[in-house]
Amino acid sequence: MSQSGLDKLTVIGAGVLGGQIAWHSAYMGKTVVVYDLYDEGLDRCREAQQQYAIIYTQDLNASAEDITATQERLSFSSDLATAVVDADVVIEAAPEIPEVKTALYKELAPLLPAETIVATNSSTLLPSQFAGDSGRPDKFCSLHFANLIWSMNLAEVMAHPTTSQSTILAITQFAIEIGMVPIPLQKEHNAYVINTLLVPLLQAAQTLVTNGISTPETIDRTYMIMNRGCSMGPCGIIDVVGMKTCYDVLSYWGAENNDEQMMTNAEYIKQHFIDQGHMGLLSGQGYYSYPEPTYQSADFLEVPDIGRAEEFASLVSA
Ligand SMILES: NC(=O)c1ccc[n+]([C@@H]2O[C@H](COP(=O)([O-])OP(=O)(O)OC[C@H]3O[C@@H](n4cnc5c(N)ncnc54)[C@H](O)[C@@H]3O)[C@@H](O)[C@H]2O)c1
Repeated sequence: MSQSGLDKLTVIGAGVLGGQIAWHSAYMGKTVVVYDLYDEGLDRCREAQQQYAIIYTQDLNASAEDITATQERLSFSSDLATAVVDADVVIEAAPEIPEVKTALYKELAPLLPAETIVATNSSTLLPSQFAGDSGRPDKFCSLHFANLIWSMNLAEVMAHPTTSQSTILAITQFAIEIGMVPIPLQKEHNAYVINTLLVPLLQAAQTLVTNGISTPETIDRTYMIMNRGCSMGPCGIIDVVGMKTCYDVLSYWGAENNDEQMMTNAEYIKQHFIDQGHMGLLSGQGYYSYPEPTYQSADFLEVPDIGRAEEFASLVSA
């Protein structure tokens, strides 16, 4: 048994982040059940995990045995009761919609073994919003991962006022066991650390696009020149986060803060991407086309040939 005692994990929500948390935890030796309300969610997750197998082989030097062992530690379920019956720890990665999470916790609470610890992977909502509905406030907290978990290996640990110290310790140990650098929060804060930094950046980039001030490529080029060495700019990050989650965050916080620009940005993402089935990196199309987005091309940050001046000049208007 590991030091945390949290060896059997159930991930609820098989989307962008749930799928990564599940795969990575299994890769690091945990036994994992992935649950999703929808069969399509589980199917998409299985497909994404074939991609993760390739990424872990190429980028992390995983051997064929490592990949097979990871796959053997993973199982999928569309029945919530069965999915959590043996769980030491549950990580909830359902959509960033408070009503969805609340309904889920109410359904989950009576199904859980008494000792199970529950953590939400919410990016912007507080653990105290769901602690009561979880039915075990002392065993409830946030454990927030970053997208592309295998390289952005940090996990934010956020408690609410009645989370027990033993839960905080076990969750922190669990994070370390799966190769994360723990990021402790000293008080509840909606945007955690990551999104306090990231959401204003993405919102600013999206506003430049929505209001027709600049193009995604120009915005990302600017950012990547100002932050030499970084792998992508804010529009590339929007693709990685996924259009659905960007839409959920912008529409919720836009309404909550009566922020018209934020709501207009949410609507832009819905009309230009979600309604067309372009969900970002995971679907192969967002602001960029994958697997070879323009911002990875060798000349993206180069001073252009003088012959391209017209192309650049045509993007300037008053
Ligand atoms: N995308 C990111 O970059 C990112 C990063 C960190 C944290 N998060 C957080 O992770 C959570 C999930 O985000 P995501 O981007 O993976 O979302 P997503 O939309 O990609 O996936 C959500 C999944 O939940 C499933 N689902 C819907 N209702 C459900 C229910 N009632 N029970 C179980 N499953 C249900 C959906 O079918 C889908 O597969 C959110 O709280 C988000 O804030 C996302």
